[in-house]
Amino acid sequence: MKYVRERDESGEESTQKFHREAERIDKRDRVILKNEEERSVFEEVFDRKTLMILYDLSNADVFSYLNGVISSGKEARVYWGVKTDRTDVAVKIYLVASSDYKKRLQYIVGDPRFDKIRRDSRGIAELWARKEFINLKAAFSAGVPVPEPFAFQGNVVVMQFIGKDGIPAPRLIDVKATRSDYIEVIKAMRLIYQKAGLVHSDLSEYNIMKLEGSLIFFDFGSAVSTEHPASEEFLRRDISNINKFFQKRGIRTEEDEEKLLTRIRGRKSKSEDENEENQTREVGA
Ligand SMILES: Nc1ncnc2c1ncn2[C@@H]1O[C@H](COP(=O)(O)OP(=O)(O)OP(=O)(O)O)[C@@H](O)[C@H]1O
Ligand SMILES: [Mg+2]
Repeated sequence: MKYVRERDESGEESTQKFHREAERIDKRDRVILKNEEERSVFEEVFDRKTLMILYDLSNADVFSYLNGVISSGKEARVYWGVKTDRTDVAVKIYLVASSDYKKRLQYIVGDPRFDKIRRDSRGIAELWARKEFINLKAAFSAGVPVPEPFAFQGNVVVMQFIGKDGIPAPRLIDVKATRSDYIEVIKAMRLIYQKAGLVHSDLSEYNIMKLEGSLIFFDFGSAVSTEHPASEEFLRRDISNINKFFQKRGIRTEEDEEKLLTRIRGRKSKSEDENEENQTREVGA
């Protein structure tokens, strides 16, 4: 069933139709609405403003209709969207009523790309959506294998669907990982850092998919500019998480994480730079 495309004067009727449709999807998927408490969860995802945004995006044929829930995280829901040409898209809705955002302001404050920050809950949800979209764009343009970002509006991001028939590709945690996957991850981390100017900051086996032997990196909401004061700390954590995962799977990894850090950044670490500078000064060069 398609969402109604004609908008009445107030937009009221269409919004209600969108609301009914969204409710039908969640009911069918039996994700929520089992009781009053869960009903309020539903309203937290599909508040009036979000419904209007979905309606606008569907009017612009960014997608035609939503076909089911793919994932219900603490901060966002991902829906399977279908376009009029029947291609699939992923529609990620950042929850306005997530209590987790405030904790995660550290991934925004200090990033020179985001100087004005609205701290109300909708403002933060919208900022996350915008940030994920901008990050995906930068990564995509840098040639990193990521879902192609198509659009964002308010707290909603629409991107290429990675998978088939509404079923997302398995994540690295779900499949057999190989040494060449490890090498691909390190290569992607270099590209993300050097070409996209970003640190993923939430990189793990849960945020990498494997489709037909190739890896696809996603969930870029937390990614920060390399200029962010904590970007080195976040990069070290990403490296350590990735190494731990591959080691658990019995795959040989580069154990010298400092060396990896240098390789990913493509330049020497600050202390190495300083050392070198001092040495240069000492020899009078
Ligand atoms: N572009 C996409 N194509 C297909 N499936 C996707 C896409 N993006 C996300 N998913 C699915 O939705 C799940 C959650 O996505 P994502 O990690 O971006 O959201 P999240 O709210 O940060 O979730 P979590 O809190 O679990 O990390 C993914 O594990 C994946 O199964
Ligand atoms: Mg995730």
